[in-house]
Amino acid sequence: MDKLLIEGGARLSGEVAISGAKNAALPILCAALLTAEPVTFTNVPQLKDIGTLLALLGQMGVKVERAGDTVTLDASGLNNPVAPYEMVKTMRASILVLGPLVARCGEARVSLPGGCAIGARPVDQHIKGLQAMGAEVRVEHGYVHATVPRLKGARLFTDMVTVTGTENLMMAAALADGETVIENAAREPEVVDLANCLVAMGAQISGAGSDVIRIRGVERLHGATHRIMPDRIETGTYLCAAAVTGGSVRLTGTSSCYLDAVIDKLMDAGCEVVSERDAISLSAPARLNAVSLRTAPYPAFPTDMQAQFMAINCVANGVAMIRETIFENRFMHAVELQRLGADIRIDGNTAVVQGVARLEGATVMATDLRASASLVVAGLVAEGETTIERIYHLDRGYERLEDKLAALGAKVRRLT
Ligand code: UD1
Repeated sequence: MDKLLIEGGARLSGEVAISGAKNAALPILCAALLTAEPVTFTNVPQLKDIGTLLALLGQMGVKVERAGDTVTLDASGLNNPVAPYEMVKTMRASILVLGPLVARCGEARVSLPGGCAIGARPVDQHIKGLQAMGAEVRVEHGYVHATVPRLKGARLFTDMVTVTGTENLMMAAALADGETVIENAAREPEVVDLANCLVAMGAQISGAGSDVIRIRGVERLHGATHRIMPDRIETGTYLCAAAVTGGSVRLTGTSSCYLDAVIDKLMDAGCEVVSERDAISLSAPARLNAVSLRTAPYPAFPTDMQAQFMAINCVANGVAMIRETIFENRFMHAVELQRLGADIRIDGNTAVVQGVARLEGATVMATDLRASASLVVAGLVAEGETTIERIYHLDRGYERLEDKLAALGAKVRRLT
């Protein structure tokens, strides 16, 4: 299994390009299931999760063409509306095929994703929404089996804000008979990117980006070309990496408009941040101030940036309180950060981080995608060598991580 070796202490500087967003690309690639015409996507990141999804779509009968960051999907031959356990278990986002398959084929058999390291993560809201739209849904032998001649528009209300739940139901509603209203909808920018893609394919959607989305179903959707938005979490991760090293970087191909909550905290920590149209620059002081935060649905502070901020707080001046409100078990990185010498106390969903003068390199284990990113951030500032094991988690969500870090002057190496 690959490992990442980081020699801490290098101040990051220079310029690096941000990739397309994993969490936008995954639902948007699934949207191709909704039409019999080819759809082309650009700025698709080359990540393990994207490879997994394309393989999943391929075994359903979708023709996949991939050249660099461009992917063309042709679902005219879609003949197997099934997502088997072997593929779904490695990537929860596979559940995003459920809505489009039911809408287009009138049937879907999708394996339940099961739990994952950061919490139970059920899909009851996805199922409840499809049932409200007239689908008959049975859960048997670990599979969600949904059937319906044609989905009917309905008024949907989710018990909590769910990102992939909103996306699944929006895609299903695009081909339903009549109007669907999703209340308590997720407002994440990735939901808006998906809505823009669906509209380019002929869907009638309004309100994406607010908590009420209206979808007037159409008979069929058509082909389109869509560029995937920049990855705001990758952007935020590189900003943290630069900040913790007292560095100065410029990130291109991205925008600060999706990152207000994160940039606000970086400025509180003492960084200077300059936003351009398609780039963000950050320069950091030698030592950051501790910053407290609470995760919540967009536009509040994203749970996917919590671990990286815990890492920068480990060596900041002062005490930070970090509250995680989205996932029940998302502090696994804390024990690994402690192995590097961090002073962190966990009390329920709150972590109290007392900044220390220095971290020391050690061998640590990546446990999930963003936890791994926090270990990279900490490793960049720890004295000596940090070895991160199980970096397949990082490969799920960060394109060419070690190349990009090295371009900014980090001493980082992959051991295969
Ligand atoms: C998405 C993101 C993930 C991010 C998360 C929260 C993708 C591919 N993944 O995950 O990176 O961390 O949003 O911003 O976009 N819940 C239920 N029942 C459901 C659905 C959700 O109880 O049917 C709960 C979850 O367990 C969690 C909360 O709702 O506690 C929010 O989860 P959700 O927004 O659905 O996360 P994902 O869409 O899976």
